[in-house]
Amino acid sequence: MAAGETERDYVLGTHDEEIERLGLQHRVWRPRVLDAWRRAGFSAGQTLLDVGSGPGHATFDLAEITGPSGRVVALERSRRFLDALESVRRRRGFENVEGREVDLDEDDWSGFGADGAWCRWIFAFVKRPRALLSRLHGALRPGGPLVVYEYLDYSTWRLAPPSPEMEQFVRLVMESWRASGGEPDVGLNLPRWLDETGFRIRSLRPILDIVAPSDDIWQWPKSFLEIGLRRLVDLGRLNADRAGELGGAFAAREKEPGTLMVTPAVIEIIAIRR
Ligand SMILES: C[S@@+](CC[C@H](N)C(=O)[O-])C[C@H]1O[C@@H](n2cnc3c(N)ncnc32)[C@H](O)[C@@H]1O
Repeated sequence: MAAGETERDYVLGTHDEEIERLGLQHRVWRPRVLDAWRRAGFSAGQTLLDVGSGPGHATFDLAEITGPSGRVVALERSRRFLDALESVRRRRGFENVEGREVDLDEDDWSGFGADGAWCRWIFAFVKRPRALLSRLHGALRPGGPLVVYEYLDYSTWRLAPPSPEMEQFVRLVMESWRASGGEPDVGLNLPRWLDETGFRIRSLRPILDIVAPSDDIWQWPKSFLEIGLRRLVDLGRLNADRAGELGGAFAAREKEPGTLMVTPAVIEIIAIRR
């Protein structure tokens, strides 16, 4: 398989390093996510959907909430991610988790009568986000909550004081997502699209942090940058020498006293299926 190409691949890749990065990312985000699920009313005995689950880091947290009397269905296109999910499912003995191979752009998967759905960093990558919202509407029971995390403004991801190398990296990432049919700032469109598709917005929250290298949250964008530089080289969007310079500039700034990072702005949406 050529670098940067399929296994029903997508712009960030589905390799082992990415599975690990998604795990670290979920660990950093878990406290906020658990709080959002609690506010949305996710609870024991429910059927919940993890839409675009990746290797399932959030799926198993959802399954702990539903308990054995409920279930979680993880919908994902990547066979590699689903295999990783299945091996964790077996090892941890979760009978109430099922992974399904689904292309959210192509396949019809409505009709679960689900009690709730979780969807994080998916609308930014699919080619037809409004069609995905319609399917989500069809998959939820009336009154069922949908919790979404997407980027609102990816370009807020900067170092303070500013770094031209960091800003080039962020620009290239945004271009690569757009070139593959996605839209990093899709969170700006979702509230209106949700309303038009038959959802009522219950709450909207922006999430953005300003962190120092000693802060645990720093590890999340840092791990994305390390893997992202290699990915941009694989995709032919950056040459290896320049990737080395960008990585070196980041490492130097990380060691400099007083460096801060502003994270890419995320929107948290809790919407109710009308
Ligand atoms: C950034 S990851 C987020 C994974 C997970 N939601 C999380 O928060 O850890 C994006 C995921 O979307 C999946 N994906 C992208 N396009 C897809 C499509 N058309 N159908 C199904 N899954 C897709 C990728 O395979 C990947 O698992």
